[in-house]
Amino acid sequence: MRYRPLGTSGIDSSIVGLGTAAIGGGDTFAGPDDRESVKAIHAALDCGVTLIDTAPSYGWGHSEEVVGKAIRGRRDRVVVATKCGVWWEDERGSYNGVKDGRENYVSLRPDTITIEVENSLRRLGVDHIDLLQCHKPAKPPEDTPIPETMGCLMDLKDQGKIRAIGVSNVSLDQLDAYREAGDLASDQFRYSMLLRDREADILPYCAEHNIATLTYWSLEQGLLTGKVGLDRVFREDDFRGTAGEWLPWFRLENRQRLLDMFAGWTDLTEKHGCTIAQLTVAWTAAQTGATHVLCGVRTVEQGIQNAGAGALELEADEIQRVRDDLVALGDPV
Ligand SMILES: NC(=O)c1ccc[n+]([C@@H]2O[C@H](COP(=O)([O-])OP(=O)(O)OC[C@H]3O[C@@H](n4cnc5c(N)ncnc54)[C@H](OP(=O)(O)O)[C@@H]3O)[C@@H](O)[C@H]2O)c1
Repeated sequence: MRYRPLGTSGIDSSIVGLGTAAIGGGDTFAGPDDRESVKAIHAALDCGVTLIDTAPSYGWGHSEEVVGKAIRGRRDRVVVATKCGVWWEDERGSYNGVKDGRENYVSLRPDTITIEVENSLRRLGVDHIDLLQCHKPAKPPEDTPIPETMGCLMDLKDQGKIRAIGVSNVSLDQLDAYREAGDLASDQFRYSMLLRDREADILPYCAEHNIATLTYWSLEQGLLTGKVGLDRVFREDDFRGTAGEWLPWFRLENRQRLLDMFAGWTDLTEKHGCTIAQLTVAWTAAQTGATHVLCGVRTVEQGIQNAGAGALELEADEIQRVRDDLVALGDPV
């Protein structure tokens, strides 16, 4: 496993991060098995993963509770990253919709953040959070000014409740404003082989300003593991079952195009003794500005396999070859 700094926070963490959205469950992620989730987390930690990313909104506290259970007795080996800003206890903030039957609000007000942090500490069973990330930017009508939010986060840092501050899903302008307002360690956003837009703005900005990046959906919900063949049918309560409507790469004809591309990489996977999932993670972590890759994990096998990607280093010509293939692949039909 390779380790990289979380920006200027003084914290190092594994370049492969364990994502825990699916183990939180809820309407979109087909019924997780908590015991298997804990085992998967243990397996990843045993393979050198130190970064675990969770959020209060993943199963409305459930993901944090499962992570808390898994890290008991192993706290000193883990960099716990959670989030704030999706609020559901009352109507403070700006309406954000209904998820898993709960109306929720985007709130980056100091009063709700302070409550959220206490709740996260309790669910995780820890006395501090290593990285607290604003899950989403504030939005009208309750558009809390960034300096006000950052002031609260800096206070929490001074109090020792959090060690580092991050953001997620922000625009370049918002990122810049957060950096101006306090100690910004990281940014989390969607980035994968199939969705490379952030190479034009956020990734170079983070590289220039020494901000760690935690990329999500880098496995594109399993599509970039090579394990989603034409015959894979998703459960009714798995959002991927209908994903073809809004995630066109899930459509059968596009899955086939991906499988054909992977088949062309057989010499690479054989040379490195790796899987397509590992090649994907290693390629992602090798891009300019990409420091940490979050991989959602549901099973022990996935935990071990994804962790294994943290040791894989591709040659420059291999990285370019994969990029050329991605460019040739083009858009989904
Ligand atoms: N900040 C944000 O707004 C935001 C948004 C989304 C996600 N995130 C974070 O990023 C993390 C990653 O995203 P994600 O979990 O949604 O999606 P992902 O990493 O793209 O995909 C995860 C899914 O891929 C499959 N998979 C993982 N490893 C595999 C392997 N080695 N072989 C075969 N299949 C494998 C598993 O699904 P199956 O086994 O069911 O096929 C798993 O649930 C999240 O867990 C969360 O921590 C943050």
